[in-house]
Amino acid sequence: MCGIFGAILREGRVAPLIHDGLKRLEYRGYDSVGFATLHSGSLQVRKDAGGIDEVVSSLRMDEMPGAIGIGHTRWATHGAPEMVNAHPHTDCEGKIAVIHNGVIENFMELKEELINKGHSFKSRTDTEIIAHLVEEEMKGDIELGEAILKSLKRLEGSYALAILSPSDPEKIFCARHESPLVLGVSDDGVFCASDVSAMLPYTNRVVYLRNGEFAVIDVEGYKITKIQDGSPVERELQEVTWSLEMAEKQGYPHFMLKEIYEQPKSLRGSLRLQQAYLDLLTTLLDRGRELFLVAAGTSYHSCVAASYMFSKLAKLTTFPAISSEFVEQYGSSVGTDSIILAVSQSGETYDTLKAIDHARMRAATVLGVTNTVGSTLTRVSRAYLIQQSGPEIGVAATKTFTSQLIVLAQLALKLARTRGKISQDEVDDFEERLMRVPSYVEETLERHGKGIQALVDKYAGEKLFVFLGRGISSATALEARLKLLELTYVPSLAYPAGESKHGPISIIEEGVPVIFLCPRGETRKDIIGSIMEMKARGARIISVCEEGDREITMISDDIIEMPKGIPEVLSPIPYVVPLQLFAYYLAVQKGLDPDKPRNLAKSVTVP
Ligand code: AGP
Repeated sequence: MCGIFGAILREGRVAPLIHDGLKRLEYRGYDSVGFATLHSGSLQVRKDAGGIDEVVSSLRMDEMPGAIGIGHTRWATHGAPEMVNAHPHTDCEGKIAVIHNGVIENFMELKEELINKGHSFKSRTDTEIIAHLVEEEMKGDIELGEAILKSLKRLEGSYALAILSPSDPEKIFCARHESPLVLGVSDDGVFCASDVSAMLPYTNRVVYLRNGEFAVIDVEGYKITKIQDGSPVERELQEVTWSLEMAEKQGYPHFMLKEIYEQPKSLRGSLRLQQAYLDLLTTLLDRGRELFLVAAGTSYHSCVAASYMFSKLAKLTTFPAISSEFVEQYGSSVGTDSIILAVSQSGETYDTLKAIDHARMRAATVLGVTNTVGSTLTRVSRAYLIQQSGPEIGVAATKTFTSQLIVLAQLALKLARTRGKISQDEVDDFEERLMRVPSYVEETLERHGKGIQALVDKYAGEKLFVFLGRGISSATALEARLKLLELTYVPSLAYPAGESKHGPISIIEEGVPVIFLCPRGETRKDIIGSIMEMKARGARIISVCEEGDREITMISDDIIEMPKGIPEVLSPIPYVVPLQLFAYYLAVQKGLDPDKPRNLAKSVTVP
């Protein structure tokens, strides 16, 4: 995820506004920054890796001349956070400047085609191909706008773009497909940005671009057309009533809630893994005798779930390990034929990096899944996958958890296909349903976004919660419990349901709420048995189950209904969502700040 800001002023210098706009978009990522401005027909680009204020001041970017310009704050997806990969990117002649938020999936083939036509590239990004594509189209002696439109039709993937060039020096060309872009109009000028928060100090009159739209802005206003056929789109300006603070969170009261709601989008992003990397990790995994999935906290819960995916689908012996325990527990048995797959959204968790050090010392193969390009984990892994969730600001992991799961599921399925341990039909079926997971989450949010409040009201006074699940749902139970515990500080337990009768059941007395995860699948019969055991001891049963599951409904006090058709092995992704909401709303009800739970840090980089 990156931030885009562009502006055309009637008078004055635009650079300080770009700086201010990007600061408001800093939450979208901040590993590099760059501006391009136009003055007296010449394009100036300044950019570097580093924080916004630091780079702007060291390159004196506030002083760049011109009333028209674009700026970008980057959160790396392709290519490390280095100057050469910072946006804007330009064509061979340095006359077309492009800033981009999103991922161009077919950039490798386009790059090869352009190299064969004589273009030379400076960066490792997917974005740079856009500048060269436009340059190539302009050789056909067409105008800049038309060349951009032609180029857009060749792009696959997601983008929000702003393009600036002396070939048409009074305009900024914008386009959107799956990444957000909004235009704004004031008496002083016209703006484009990744979200309204960036332009709110200057205007509250905005128009949102939709997927597949192209817009040309100049100092008089904007013109929108459809990319596909160039047909005009009439869309009126609307007035935004948000305060600045609300706008940063896109109208949500907390980052955590915003991130919960971002999950359909972040999951779609995580389904766009680069095949070459997926293939490489699969090949390395296939060589292993055993697989250790190593992580801390929420990421460990992803590993617990993934251990079921790898052993059920790919039939690979898999051990989830808490990273701080890894050396003690498995350190002396790890060897050259062990694979360590470390999972860490930050890529900087001390305990996880320590476990990796040890595994590397013993010549094991270390692989990684992380959300942070350029993190230590990416440097110490033999190969890694970037989960593409976008930055997560709330301390409690939500969208990074579900993204980790969908990445690990893709890996397990790919390995299953390679190893041929389950039938091709089954793999095809899982793959098809995996693609539907973002929609299952969307549906869940629509259903429970508001409705969960009634359940929160009913159980707000409880002093203890118990979470139980069987099979892969025991991982969902662990994560749901962690969310509740860290946000509300209410003591709670989570166990595989079958284990509860070996001890935890003694805590159950009249009225204790027990939350059961009950997706349809192999474990459903057993979970019904566990519910009956708890009921017999007076527990109040809250079940998360498939819509229309009459048997579970009849034995539960409350139910949280989930969409039909979710296979059990993928169920942790949608099933955790209503429980993230439950923890969030309960924290709010208790007057706690869900974005900053006490005693916790987003990334734990100490022993
Ligand atoms: C969960 O809400 C926490 N943020 C925490 O458990 C976190 O998952 C853990 O510290 C691991 O972080 P990582 O994914 O960055 O390694």
